[in-house]
This record gives sequence, structure tokens and C-alpha cells, in this order.
Amino acid sequence: MFSEAPELYDLIYQSFKDYGAESKQIAGLLAAEAPEARAVLDVGCGTGEHARYLWEEHGYQVDGLDLEPAFIELAKAKVPQASFWHGDMADFSLDATYDVILCLFSAIGYLRSVDRLESAFRCFRRHLNPNGVVLVEPWFEPEAWLPGRTYLNTVEQDDLRVVRLSHSGVRDRMSVVTFHYLIGSDEGIEHRTEHHELALFTRAETMDCFARAGFAAVRHDPKGLIGRGLYIARIEGER
Ligand SMILES: C[S@@+](CC[C@H](N)C(=O)[O-])C[C@H]1O[C@@H](n2cnc3c(N)ncnc32)[C@H](O)[C@@H]1O
Repeated sequence: MFSEAPELYDLIYQSFKDYGAESKQIAGLLAAEAPEARAVLDVGCGTGEHARYLWEEHGYQVDGLDLEPAFIELAKAKVPQASFWHGDMADFSLDATYDVILCLFSAIGYLRSVDRLESAFRCFRRHLNPNGVVLVEPWFEPEAWLPGRTYLNTVEQDDLRVVRLSHSGVRDRMSVVTFHYLIGSDEGIEHRTEHHELALFTRAETMDCFARAGFAAVRHDPKGLIGRGLYIARIEGER
């Protein structure tokens, strides 16, 4: 997954993704959905960018969980007062519960199967306080995925120049994304490759998993934070 170039994640994504604006949208949504909420768990938190903004600009106490150990270290350095755990979102057990669970920027797609999606939602439910809310920003639905395309990102910082060329593929119901990085510095040019596979869950599959995991009220906002949609799920006070 992200293990080939974790140190480049912020440089690349912050060049086109506005984490500050997204965090403001999340805070606005939470103010309406769960006005008393303070404790937030960001699952698939990556390098902790949403956690940082939600803490610094909106006063939420945000912990995080991610599968990539290098991201956990980056997140800890950004938000030292928070707890960041290394773990699998489909199989985790923490000694804490939360008012809000976030799972953003399509991290959920990496679960790869409907069974693991349901397991993740069961874990979310177990870690949610009464009246808590879950926000899940999904990956693409099958009909929206466009295989056979390439996408280019270029970024520069001091003597570092990075070119990332991605290719979108598909295998059955799995999207396959290959990233080729060319990383240039005064030392020379390095080439690295990463393969990512994310399941193309349908809306019905996602809704069914929420229901089987015990979420009684689930809404889908087709636009969400960046046009990928957003699920807003509650268990209606029960745990
Ligand atoms: C596209 S990144 C999004 C990261 C972050 N939420 C953001 O907005 O930048 C997907 C994240 O999901 C994490 N991830 C993938 N599978 C996971 C799993 N099974 N459990 C926990 N984290 C996972 C990856 O390590 C990565 O940090």
C-alpha cells in the first residue's frame, strides 16, 4: 500500500487536497449532527492531517488508527497529545470509546471485501458512545470507476522534485491503482512503484453492512467533502 513512499504522502496530497477546508466542513457537520461531541477517532488516519486541523482549529480531541506504521509516527509528531494506534480497522479493540468515528478519503476501500467491511463497521459500533455518529467517505462505486486512465502529479520542495504517474485498472470488482514515483534530489533520481487495490463497493453493499453491524439510521450524501460522497451513520443511542 503506502509503504514505498510514506514520507512523500503529505507533500503530494497537500498539493491538491485542502485538509483545512475539509476539517471545517466536518466540524460544521458535527456541530449539527452531534453538538456535544468532543472525542473523535479517525480510522485510517494516515499522517494525521485531519486530526491536526480538527484539534488545532476546532477543539476536538482526536485519536487515530492506521495500518501503516510510518504514518502513525508522522501523525504522533503532528498531534503529540493524541493517541495514534497501529491496527487494522476491521479488527481492533481499544480501551476507549468516542463520540465520533471518522473514516475519510476512501480508506474504507482498502478493506477489499464485504465481510471485512462489515467487521470494520462492527468495530466502529463497539467504539462509539451513545448518540455517537460515524462519518465514512467511501471509494468509488463500480459504475463510477474509470479504468484505463493515467493521472499526473508533480511537486517540488527545496531540492526535492517528485513526479507521480498513476494508472487506474480494474479486476472483477477490485480497482487496481499503480503509482510510479520519480524522486529527484541533488543525489540523483530514484524510481519507486506502489500497487493499491480498493474494492468497488456498491451503495447497497455498504448500507447492508451498516445495517448488519447495528446502525439503524444511515444517510448517504452524494457530494460529501470532495465529491466522493459521505455516509452519516448512527446507532440511535444504543450500544
Ligand atoms: C487514502 S489514505 C487516507 C488517509 C487519511 N484519512 C487522509 O485523509 O489523508 C488511506 C489510509 O487507510 C489506511 N488503511 C488501509 N487499510 C487499512 C486498515 N485495514 N486498517 C487501518 N488503516 C488502513 C492506509 O494506511 C492509509 O493511511
